[in-house]
Amino acid sequence: MDFKPDSAIDSIKDMPLPKKLFIRTYGCQMNAYDSARMAEVLAPMGYAQSDVPEGADLVIINTCHIREHASEKVFSELGRLRELKAERASGGENMLIAVAGCVAQAEGKQILARAPYVDIVLGPQTYHRLPAMVAAAGTRAVVDCEFPPEPKFDHLPAPGADGPSAFLSVQEGCDKFCTFCVVPYTRGAEYSRPAAAILKDARGLADQGVVEITLLGQNVNAWHGDGIDKQVWGLGRLIRALAEIPGLARIRYTTSHPLDMDDALIAAHGEVDKLMPFLHLPVQSGSDRILAAMNRKHRAEDYLRIVEKLRAARSDLALSSDFIVGFPGETEDDFAQTLDLIRTVGFASAYAFKYSPRPGTPAADLDNQISAEESEARHIRLLALLSKQSVAFNQTCIGRTMDVLLDRPGRRAGQLGGRSPYMQAVHVHAPAALLNTVQPLRIVAAYPNSLTAEIVEERACA
Ligand code: 5AD
Ligand code: SF4
Repeated sequence: MDFKPDSAIDSIKDMPLPKKLFIRTYGCQMNAYDSARMAEVLAPMGYAQSDVPEGADLVIINTCHIREHASEKVFSELGRLRELKAERASGGENMLIAVAGCVAQAEGKQILARAPYVDIVLGPQTYHRLPAMVAAAGTRAVVDCEFPPEPKFDHLPAPGADGPSAFLSVQEGCDKFCTFCVVPYTRGAEYSRPAAAILKDARGLADQGVVEITLLGQNVNAWHGDGIDKQVWGLGRLIRALAEIPGLARIRYTTSHPLDMDDALIAAHGEVDKLMPFLHLPVQSGSDRILAAMNRKHRAEDYLRIVEKLRAARSDLALSSDFIVGFPGETEDDFAQTLDLIRTVGFASAYAFKYSPRPGTPAADLDNQISAEESEARHIRLLALLSKQSVAFNQTCIGRTMDVLLDRPGRRAGQLGGRSPYMQAVHVHAPAALLNTVQPLRIVAAYPNSLTAEIVEERACA
């Protein structure tokens, strides 16, 4: 081919510079996933991600509404961005500001009223339409907080990999309506992607070197989709199909509801080696009275039975959970029952939240709200018990050999960092060549938030 260096340089000069995109993400893994997908849909428009908002052509704040202060955080962030936008404008440049996610969904109108310099407001179900919104923005505010009939998944590019571990969204929304929770209102009704689309994305990720996938959904174990055999599959069946993909070594899923922990899924825990022996299964409270008021639709006893079944299927399974303290009407006795449940189960890790009334949810209107002091005191007691349990769990790992996915350079030279099957951070002296592989490591020391390990035998490939 006739190569003309001068014209090649000319064509590079004529290429538009990449536009800078800055995304600030609050909240859950689903939001982190959504942010990555928003960056992917904007890439064909020339947007490349930047680590700082300064100099960005488009700033997206991906918001979380699950607990209080979330919207206030959004407005203080917007105040800072307004100054940046004004600076850019004084230099003759434009900076678009978009507010995405659950606060946008719940409070879109208030955002535009309080911060009229915001250019785009979009809900979690419309980010596949972001390129059109960006194209239309600048002269007028663009708002799209619909729950569109077309599932966004059908209009998104296949997910790209960023390292050996990837999230894969399989389900969205929630029909459970726990009385404290905004998710059914901000994320909408339950939707399960078809198995064929999920398997295709998973194969694509494996082809890009991904060895671990975490299936994501607000209510992921409620997933039920069209199988490739035209039958309706549940999550257990989907996990078995995913386990057959060569290259994928580890499968996880989050977040689950106890009611949807069906026998087929429990059996998968016993039979699918690639399914990691670690399950995040929120219970919220150990008191039947509070569970009923929360509309959780199960008793503490039901949760304990499920845990028993899971452990019977997979003896090395470890559990994590979410708890809420200070739900309206929670007495000292209710709280004691939560502590009892925790002692009975023994959690490897867990999250504890102080109840936070969310506008529009039934529990926010209850008149027996618990004082901030009481909630705070219970929160401290709950955290103390949970942290004692997680330290104890880490201790039991000493001397064990476990497969660790080495997914990052270590904090010190010559070290690598990774994740155990139980999501513990693990540090090990290991050659850089082992980065992005799964290695059997012997745990030699345990700390409250991490483990250190040594190499047992080097495995050639993951
Ligand atoms: N107040 C406190 N915690 C909440 N969560 C959800 N809604 C609220 C609320 N209004 C917690 C639950 C849930 C986790 C994601 O957040 O424990 O499992
Ligand atoms: Fe919220 Fe989870 Fe309850 Fe759904 S199941 S309403 S997401 S806490």
